[in-house]
Amino acid sequence: MLSYRHLYHAGNHADILKHYTLCRILSYLTQKDKPLRYIDTHAGAGRYDLNTSEAQKLQEYNDGIGRIRNAPKTPALVKDYLNLVAKCGSNNSYSYPGSPWLAAQLLRPYDRLELCELHPQDFPRLEKTMSAFKNSHCYDVDGFQKSASLLPPVERRGVVFIDPSYELKQDYSKVADHLQVLTRKFSTGVYAIWYPIVNSDQVARLHRAVRKQQHEKIACYELSVTADEAAKGMRGSGMIVINPPWSLTAEVTEFLEFAAPLVATDGGSHWRALDTL
Ligand SMILES: C[S@@+](CC[C@H](N)C(=O)[O-])C[C@H]1O[C@@H](n2cnc3c(N)ncnc32)[C@H](O)[C@@H]1O
Repeated sequence: MLSYRHLYHAGNHADILKHYTLCRILSYLTQKDKPLRYIDTHAGAGRYDLNTSEAQKLQEYNDGIGRIRNAPKTPALVKDYLNLVAKCGSNNSYSYPGSPWLAAQLLRPYDRLELCELHPQDFPRLEKTMSAFKNSHCYDVDGFQKSASLLPPVERRGVVFIDPSYELKQDYSKVADHLQVLTRKFSTGVYAIWYPIVNSDQVARLHRAVRKQQHEKIACYELSVTADEAAKGMRGSGMIVINPPWSLTAEVTEFLEFAAPLVATDGGSHWRALDTL
């Protein structure tokens, strides 16, 4: 059932949008000297060795992080993200970080990370990667169910990152339904939802379902690497953020203006950053 392995895709154009956005959310929220809870419903392995045969098979990182890491005129906030990515590797390993590792870098010892991952090969890797962070807890359980049981957090401040693999078409509606469940339990949390852009109708349905929930603030950011709507496979991706920090849309806009031309596959990349979906 669980066939998706993020190792094949680590560092691609979708990862750079989702991880930059996540880093900006956490950087903002950690400015305040009050504990924060981070919940990652679909955590993956935490860190990805790009020298492995899996990552080498498609080399998707070349068209994502590979295109922006040494580009000229990099905005300062993008440099902050790139510096974190660089820190994830070492002299003899070329690695790309996953969301749990990035979050752990930005969170403070008194913040807590709750990380769910179901894949039998990726869960032990996640545990190993995160063993260095004593404030993190890994669960090999369903992230949808577990996250509901963790809300509201005692800290009353929290970020929930929902990043499934969308292997099943119903994952789009599952994500929207789940968001409703979580926000009813904890309406003031920040929720970040990643989605692939493969079929425009699916994306429009997801947007409609989230809009219908009438959250006070819903931002949305998208990056597509081709203008060809008939292109096969994932031509782009997006992030929906409920209760975004006030500065987020401007920061993601700066990232998209910088990154979109660099990751274009046919000169036709495009993006949008909506403060209100
Ligand atoms: C897109 S990857 C996550 C990537 C990670 N969030 C990151 O940004 O580095 C999705 C992960 O969800 C896992 N997964 C699938 N269904 C799950 C479930 N119901 N609960 C927890 N994890 C699940 C998959 O094994 C896969 O590793």
